[in-house]
Amino acid sequence: MKILVLHGPNLNLLGKREPGIYGRTTLEEINAQLLALAKELNVELKIVQSNHEGVIVDEIQQAARDCQGILINPAAYTHTSVAIRDALAAVNLPAVEIHLSNIHAREEFRRVSLTAPVVTAQICGLGADGYLWGLRALVRIVRQESKIK
Ligand code: DQA
Repeated sequence: MKILVLHGPNLNLLGKREPGIYGRTTLEEINAQLLALAKELNVELKIVQSNHEGVIVDEIQQAARDCQGILINPAAYTHTSVAIRDALAAVNLPAVEIHLSNIHAREEFRRVSLTAPVVTAQICGLGADGYLWGLRALVRIVRQESKIK
């Protein structure tokens, strides 16, 4: 089983970026934790971070060809991108949306997620741990759906 892990804009700055909101864990540390968990779960990961909406759309489309699930933090595009929402809806793969912060407890504009209605589940407010819970959940969902081991 192969899972696409997609990190959206500005997440490359994690660790330094507004640590009071997003924590001090860097993206490299999150990715290392995800890779360790993936090894334990016996799944393969493709990890991509991009600040560009079109690249994220391209990666989602490519996932339909070579991945069985998507773990995505669309970051600011969560609140604005019809294109990313449409790509997720089009590929129709199990997908879990992650946010480090609790977007529902923040500014009004962050409380709306354009992507949430087209993914399987949303996890927010658990910081970096949310990615690990999300990967565990996604692998269970894909295994249940497809019986892939
Ligand atoms: C975020 C929340 C978004 O509102 C914000 O634009 C981000 C990160 C989160 O992980 O909490 O860049 O997706």
